[in-house]
Amino acid sequence: MLQEDLIYIADVFTPEQCKKLIDEFEIEKERSEGERCAHAITGVDTQSTFKRIELKPYTETFDMVHNATKTMVKKWVDYLTSLNCLHVPIIAQNLNFAHMYRLMCYEKGGWIHPHTDWDNFCHASCTISLNDNFEGGQFSFFNGKYDVDLKPGQAMIFPANAYWVHEVKEVTKGKRYSTNCFILSVPLEKQFELNTFAKSLQTLPNVRNHDLRF
Ligand SMILES: [Fe+2]
Repeated sequence: MLQEDLIYIADVFTPEQCKKLIDEFEIEKERSEGERCAHAITGVDTQSTFKRIELKPYTETFDMVHNATKTMVKKWVDYLTSLNCLHVPIIAQNLNFAHMYRLMCYEKGGWIHPHTDWDNFCHASCTISLNDNFEGGQFSFFNGKYDVDLKPGQAMIFPANAYWVHEVKEVTKGKRYSTNCFILSVPLEKQFELNTFAKSLQTLPNVRNHDLRF
């Protein structure tokens, strides 16, 4: 089995639903913001050039993305089970909460560098493509070694650990719209609390004494 066999892709949105989300970004783009994270290969903290807004709970578009994500989690678990070679109950019991639903736009020149979505208690990443009237902007895994072309309305879910380096290559024409969320085993606010606690463990003498780093 190849690593990319763990990726699952399915149709989740109609063209009308994609348009509704794209229109929402354009209406709300004044409140859009950028993001930064470590470059997976160099380790350098890097500002990417896409913009994103967070969908507001209890809205039609939030519910659309939430329901599509829920469907993808269910279908992915069924697909992984069908492979008949994985410990799926452990995977499934950690796919419980979405950290947030982000609506993203990569304008011409927009990209995100190779990175991973890894964090404690984060187990999967789910993205939904909303359009294809742009050039460039391929979703690519493993530092450019495996490209995925999603059609508008298609979602893709994949593991979020550090082995899953991915990027969006530079958009050379038009605008690329998508949504994304991370799938957590605990609610987002608990992830913050638990991460703070996990960091504090690093200062304990008995943890330092068993340090394998060099
Ligand atoms: Fe990512």
